[in-house]
Amino acid sequence: MSTFSVRVVPAGEDRRPTFEHLVQLYLHDLSGVGGWDLRDDGTFGTELLDGCWSESHRHPFLFRVADSLAGFAVVDRGSHVGDRSDVWDMAEFFVVNRWRQAGVGRAAARQLFARFPGGWEVRPFPGYSPAERFWASVCADVASSDVVTEADHHRSRPGGQIMRFLVG
Ligand SMILES: CC(C)(COP(=O)(O)OP(=O)(O)OC[C@H]1O[C@@H](n2cnc3c(N)ncnc32)[C@H](O)[C@@H]1OP(=O)(O)O)[C@@H](O)C(=O)NCCC(=O)NCCS
Repeated sequence: MSTFSVRVVPAGEDRRPTFEHLVQLYLHDLSGVGGWDLRDDGTFGTELLDGCWSESHRHPFLFRVADSLAGFAVVDRGSHVGDRSDVWDMAEFFVVNRWRQAGVGRAAARQLFARFPGGWEVRPFPGYSPAERFWASVCADVASSDVVTEADHHRSRPGGQIMRFLVG
C-alpha cells in the first residue's frame, strides 16, 4: 500500500519553464521507440506544449509526491482522432523515473479521470510497452463502461490503439 500521497495540481503559465524541462525527459523516454533525434540545441523541442496556456481546450497539470515534482499531464477537450468535441483526450502523461512502478501514475490518472467525467480517448504510445500495459490496466480500472479498443490509424507509427470508455 502507498505510504505517500499523490497530488495533481493545475499548472498556470508561470510553470511553463518547468513543463519545458519535463517534456525533455518525457520525449527522451519515448524517443527510443519514437525514433526521433535530438536537435542541435540538445533538446527535443517543446511544441507539444503549444496552446497549453492560450487555448481553453488544453488543461496542463503537474504531479507532486510529498514535496517533489513527480510528473505532468495534459488533458485536452476534443478528440485527437476524429471530429468529436465532447470527449476528453489524455494528450500527454509522464511520471519521473524516481517514482515509477510505485502507483504514482495510477493515482494521478485516477484523479484526472475523476476531474473530467464523460467520454474518454486514451492513445498509448505505439510500441512502448510500459505505456501500453499501464493504460490497459488503468483504463480498465477507472472505466464505468466497457473499454473499446480500436486501431489508431492517425499515428505516423503503426500499431497504435485508441481506448474509448466512459468515466463516472
Ligand atoms: C507509463 C508510466 C506513466 C507508468 O507510470 P507508473 O507510475 O510507473 O505506473 P504505476 O506504478 O501506477 O503502474 C500502474 C500499472 O501500470 C503497469 N506498468 C507500469 N509500468 C510498467 C512497466 N514498466 N512495465 C509493465 N507494466 C507497467 C502495471 O500494470 C501497473 O500495475 P501494477 O502496479 O498492478 O503492476 C511511466 O512509466 C512513464 O511516464 N513512462 C514514460 C512516458 C509514457 O510512456 N507516458 C505515456 C505515453 S502514452
